[in-house]
Amino acid sequence: MELGKIYELNITSYDMNGWGVASLDNKVIFVEKAMKAEVVLAKITNIHKKYAFAQTVKVLEASTERIESICPYYEGCGGCDLLHMNYQVECEIKEAKIKNSFAKINSLKNVKINPIIKNDKITGYRNKIIIPFSVDADNNVIYGFYAKMSHELISIDHCIISNQYVNEVVEFIRKYLSVMNIKIYNETTHTGIFKGVMIRNNYLNEMMVVLIVTTKIDFSGLVSYLEKDYPLVKSIYLNINPKLTNVMLGDKLIHLAGAKTLVEDILGLKFNVSAASFMQINHEAAQKLYNEAFKMANLTKNMNVIDAYCGMGSITLNLAKMVNYVYGIEVVPDAIINANHNKELNNIKNVTFICGKCEEEIAKLLPQNKIDVIFFDPPRKGCEKSFLEAIVNAQIPKLVYISCNIATACRDINYLLENNYQVVEVTPVDIFSRTNNVETVVTLSLRK
Ligand SMILES: C[S@@+](CC[C@H](N)C(=O)[O-])C[C@H]1O[C@@H](n2cnc3c(N)ncnc32)[C@H](O)[C@@H]1O
Repeated sequence: MELGKIYELNITSYDMNGWGVASLDNKVIFVEKAMKAEVVLAKITNIHKKYAFAQTVKVLEASTERIESICPYYEGCGGCDLLHMNYQVECEIKEAKIKNSFAKINSLKNVKINPIIKNDKITGYRNKIIIPFSVDADNNVIYGFYAKMSHELISIDHCIISNQYVNEVVEFIRKYLSVMNIKIYNETTHTGIFKGVMIRNNYLNEMMVVLIVTTKIDFSGLVSYLEKDYPLVKSIYLNINPKLTNVMLGDKLIHLAGAKTLVEDILGLKFNVSAASFMQINHEAAQKLYNEAFKMANLTKNMNVIDAYCGMGSITLNLAKMVNYVYGIEVVPDAIINANHNKELNNIKNVTFICGKCEEEIAKLLPQNKIDVIFFDPPRKGCEKSFLEAIVNAQIPKLVYISCNIATACRDINYLLENNYQVVEVTPVDIFSRTNNVETVVTLSLRK
């Protein structure tokens, strides 16, 4: 097998990420954008001792489940991974990912895994995008996403998983910058001003636009066009980020126009969302995820609950409607300010938000309170061991683990299994349709 050479491959199955799996020269080959039962021509892109990676160049015999991608940028853009297959196959791959991850844990080979909860809207669902801007070889202003594992910007004029009104506003901003000859930031030479834009939208398609620049600039012209021609733009900020980093958003936010926050409705409660707030990027599917987690927890009115890693309190405040008392713990101070504001906005009394690291705060909270259930929805890296140890020591009867990374979730769950917990139920939820990410809710109970 030679790097860069093209081979004919028979695809026999899928890997965890929905890539086709073939074999050649006693190696397993993971083939991007190839489907089970297909014969493809694929170019070898990476070779390791026992396996290699390849990219589909031509499909010789297509699967009946293959579909034409509805995104014209699918070939280059690294955003979505699964646009070449029908949604049913995507869901089956995601279910298999969760099943296989649990099957690696000996005691969980036969754990009950519910069917994946599907997304009703598999395009236009994203409620937040951060898009970098650049210029092409002819000095035209462009924007887009980076190609996979590269820093090459793929120029687009819309993104099919983003909100359609957001797409229109981004395109207008591109035209404005071009006509006004505003210098676009060049990350190689570190010259220019305009880096990109972050836009989030709420359930009413109202938008918050954050213009990201290296230095303060007068955008009053752009602001008045946006206010006049795009009535759904309700809030506009300037974000100043002079740092030489890949991270788009800087620390300094200047409010330019409109409301300071957007109001989101989550399961009937209102949430003030700021530019920096963490919010699930798929509003409809996130509500399904939360409902499933609440249902799986079998909550009753007399329970006391902790919502760890609570962000702006989406889960915490909804839990408060169903139980006696809830503590929300979150490390980002602004998120806690937001959460307390949201508590007042909804006139909820039976909640306390605590600002700090879960692994530190939980150890203080547990000895002083009788807690019946702990919900935890950590970032991709999962939980600190000391957080899990505190739960084990306190013998909390019921746990609800919400995870966007099944690998770290299984690591943490394995620790809990070794320490007298058992898995009760698992439900995968499709939040990030057309990409290979999948969210999972897992309930655990203390063994008698
Ligand atoms: C996946 S988000 C979950 C947010 C919330 N549950 C929701 O559904 O909107 C993870 C949250 O954990 C917070 N976080 C990360 N590490 C933390 C830690 N060690 N202690 C407390 N919060 C943490 C992040 O700031 C983020 O808000």
